[in-house]
Amino acid sequence: MKTVFVKTEKPYEVLIEHGILDRSGAIMAGHIANSMLDFASADGALVAPGKCCIVTDKNVEALYLEETRVSFKAGGFDVCNFVIDGGEASKTMQVATSLVEFLAEMRFTRSDIIVALGGGVVGDLAGFAASMYMRGINYVQIPTTVLSAVDSSVGGKTAVNLSEGKNLAGAFHQPMKVIIDPGLFDTLPNDIYHQGLAEAIKAGVIADRFLFESFELGTFDIEDVIAKAVAIKARIVSLDENDIGERALLNLGHTIAHAVEKASAFEIAHGDAVAIGLYAVAKATGAKKLTERIYRTLTINGLPWSCDIPKEEILAQIALDKKRKGDSIRVIIPLRIGECEIRDMRLEEAREFLSRGLE
Ligand code: GLY
Repeated sequence: MKTVFVKTEKPYEVLIEHGILDRSGAIMAGHIANSMLDFASADGALVAPGKCCIVTDKNVEALYLEETRVSFKAGGFDVCNFVIDGGEASKTMQVATSLVEFLAEMRFTRSDIIVALGGGVVGDLAGFAASMYMRGINYVQIPTTVLSAVDSSVGGKTAVNLSEGKNLAGAFHQPMKVIIDPGLFDTLPNDIYHQGLAEAIKAGVIADRFLFESFELGTFDIEDVIAKAVAIKARIVSLDENDIGERALLNLGHTIAHAVEKASAFEIAHGDAVAIGLYAVAKATGAKKLTERIYRTLTINGLPWSCDIPKEEILAQIALDKKRKGDSIRVIIPLRIGECEIRDMRLEEAREFLSRGLE
């Protein structure tokens, strides 16, 4: 098993191992028993782990809900589930409210937990509900997509979408643990599997040339690259949990990615948009070798590097970026594979710079 430590204010572990889903209930029961030792009864009887609510979507329900229920029941939990429709349309305040009301109906207390079993939508929504219920209860992330394993399940960003935009209501609420079973990715459709690799390739460009090279050579082991990408994210999040400084590095390629997603009315998926953004920002720097390496690496890993949307439409969306501060926007610049810098640019300067990447 590979373990990555996330040294946030409330530290936690990310556990990565093929087949770990079956042991997830026992792992969480053990974790809770350890953290409750101070409250153990005087006769030394084991503390029951309490209730858990498995939040998942209809696609994952059919594949992994039963296995997860069995695992948490075997760990001694009193298990219930909350199943949402798959897709971004479920990531709303209304669904989060229904979930929180469900927890109240089931008489959840602050010692009970939520298990987020799914991709980014499930993780963000369940984490947000966990942050709200009783002013914050514990939750565990069990990501079922590569994208959520390497990015959204780690770092404590939880959110729902508002009609004005994605992730506009949310909270920083770190999970109690992240349990990654790469075996769960075997059932992912090919395109969704590859979209997740974009965030891992991005992590390599930010901070680990060896990770990038494993994608460049096409010889990577999925467990290994997940551990490396998570370790990079964990290090950056540990330095800047509340996203006021270095954490911006994780947005490499994302200024264009978010613009491409919006300009395509979200027809282009996030992972594909990140791939397009990575290529464009590298090209914008004018560094030919860097751009060529990123182009080749994206291509051999089944990812796009461009799209049909006219450049002007993408640039128009950049002006609306919600991460903009007044007339300035933060752009992450790749200097070489494994090293990037954060640069604040005036909007016009950013448009001109990024425009070169979209030519
Ligand atoms: N996905 C970027 C972050 O967690 O900050």
